[in-house]
Amino acid sequence: MTKPRILMARAVFPELITRLEQHFEVEHNQADEAWTTQQLAAKLHDKVGLFTTGSERIDEQVLAAAPKLKICANMAVGYNNFDLPAMTARKVLATNSPDVLTETTADFGFALLMATARRVTESEHYLRAGKWQRWSYDMFSGSDVHGSTLGILGMGRIGQGIARRGAHGFGMDVIYHNRSRLAPELEAECKARYVGKEELLRTADHLVLVLPYSPSSHHAIGAAELALMKPTANLINIARGGIVDDAALAAALRDKRIAAAGLDVFEGEPKIHPDLLTVPNVVLTPHIASATVPTRKAMANLAADNLIGFLVHGKPLTPLNPEVLK
Ligand code: DGY
Repeated sequence: MTKPRILMARAVFPELITRLEQHFEVEHNQADEAWTTQQLAAKLHDKVGLFTTGSERIDEQVLAAAPKLKICANMAVGYNNFDLPAMTARKVLATNSPDVLTETTADFGFALLMATARRVTESEHYLRAGKWQRWSYDMFSGSDVHGSTLGILGMGRIGQGIARRGAHGFGMDVIYHNRSRLAPELEAECKARYVGKEELLRTADHLVLVLPYSPSSHHAIGAAELALMKPTANLINIARGGIVDDAALAAALRDKRIAAAGLDVFEGEPKIHPDLLTVPNVVLTPHIASATVPTRKAMANLAADNLIGFLVHGKPLTPLNPEVLK
């Protein structure tokens, strides 16, 4: 019997290909070539399944060229690369990889917060450039993390992980804003207090963004929001590019309207707004918040579980548009 045909859009752990080949005829991309949308669409014409990593846009143009496609499995919790209504209209199931990355991503959010507050990369660059001649009392003075106010915008699982780290590990006063308020027992566990967005912006010493990207969260942090923040505050974005207006942020950093920023995600990444590359008070990382080997393996395996679960057993694990299953 011929096996169903699937396409891997990007390179992944080799053992994952071996695992998938037990169930499918796999066209892989272990060379990690950058396919255009047209190339991706052409490769999909005879495939029933697609493995994506969050950087491949699946929209009407791609779907129209893929008449046999039944499932796109994202190796990412975020799925703004999917046009979900278009997929649902064409009865293509979408899945993501939640939960398995929560704690790792929360760890990184905290790492970025610490590095930003204590000017870790800025001072390292200074040292590596051979500029350190003498110690002085005010060298690279940053802001305290312990005992300060941690603001979290977007209080899903990752936001809660960051809140727990801040409250329990660093004695921070945690405030948050979210579309909906957490249940009282979750608020108690995270020691987090719900506030309006304006109060969050005005009060936080460290503001961490963890909300999903959607047209309604586009530029949720722009010039007006940055103007409400304390001049001593730090902004951390581990959510998605486009949630922050990067041009407005670069201007605020340059003019010291906020103290510093830590950014793992960017508008139009991997391109970076050129002004962000010229300001010293920003820590920049290339979208690595979930990047530990065990977590990336767990994410890849969950995407594979979704392909196998749906195409072989009819039961995906983490469907995003379950109405397609009816
Ligand atoms: C996610 O899972 O959404 C992360 O941003 C990695 O892509």
